[in-house]
Amino acid sequence: MMQDKINQYTAEISAFEPRSAAETEAFRIKFLGTKGIIKDLFDEFKAVSPEEKRVLGKVLNDFKKLAEEKYQIVKEQFESGDAGADQNLDLSLPGEGFELGSRHPLSLVRREIVEIFKKLGFTVAEGPEIEDDWHNFSALNFPEEHPARDMQDTFFINKDAVNGDIALRTHTSSVQVRMMENGKPPFRAIMPGRVYRNEAISARAHCFFHQVEGLYVDENVSFADLKQTLFYFVQEMYGEGTKVRFRPSYFPFTEPSAEMDISCTICGGTGCPMCKGSGWVEILGCGMVDPNVLENCGIDSQKYTGFAFGMGIERITNLKYEIKDLRLFSENDVRFLKQFQSEVI
Ligand code: PHE
Repeated sequence: MMQDKINQYTAEISAFEPRSAAETEAFRIKFLGTKGIIKDLFDEFKAVSPEEKRVLGKVLNDFKKLAEEKYQIVKEQFESGDAGADQNLDLSLPGEGFELGSRHPLSLVRREIVEIFKKLGFTVAEGPEIEDDWHNFSALNFPEEHPARDMQDTFFINKDAVNGDIALRTHTSSVQVRMMENGKPPFRAIMPGRVYRNEAISARAHCFFHQVEGLYVDENVSFADLKQTLFYFVQEMYGEGTKVRFRPSYFPFTEPSAEMDISCTICGGTGCPMCKGSGWVEILGCGMVDPNVLENCGIDSQKYTGFAFGMGIERITNLKYEIKDLRLFSENDVRFLKQFQSEVI
């Protein structure tokens, strides 16, 4: 009888794995307490026959030792904080402070650009960084084998039997195509993202940078709408009184095309090294969406017109913060990065 009970308790003790200090204490009370199992067994032991005592005496003592040892082990576990809650934890102590990082200047400026265009009703869209020939070039009216494709030094990845060349996108204009292919006009969106060009890295060029594309397609959209939209953007971004000027330019996907300059944000237009003495700095390319591009994307170019623009976020940031070396943006030097504190986290 007693032997059976002891066997059963032995198994229970061996399997015991407390998850808290409270469970450990319950174990102590159950087995080792003044009204516990071991006390009961010793009481029972007094009544057994002398022959049995000889065997059971040792069994009972071993069992008691086992229970005591087990208790010591599990108790220490909780005291050293190995498992469960730490008994010495003072929950009333103040927490340790986190040192907050700061936003990357490019993220800050991208967000500022997005906020400005949101006020004009532009939504935000994104597209893939790995693109096929159609979205990066052909749909945008770059003729096959046309030298215009060399305007942008492309990182080609491979050739796909169905989609032709697969490459890292050289501009965010590819997202315009995706947007127009997948929806119905009117479109009024900006498309921020990273782009890649095969250029040697220097203070003035990098193999990747960031652009914000803009697209506005509807009935009766004119060049005047383009000018007013960009003028508003510049006043919001660089302050009222900042001047703009448009110079004729060429892009395969816009006709007519222009480049937009603003009065130098550093010297205010009187001439300095940033604007190379001219008083003007270029900030973006733009134009009316070429009817061929609209048709390539399934949009009726008789009914709809639109404008598009594309600006480099690095460029906009350089002019805002007077940063002269593009490489700083990707070197992750905290001495540089921590200078850009934002009020919004
Ligand atoms: N995609 C052009 C570039 O990367 C910029 C651009 C966009 C020009 C839209 C006109 C219209 O240089």
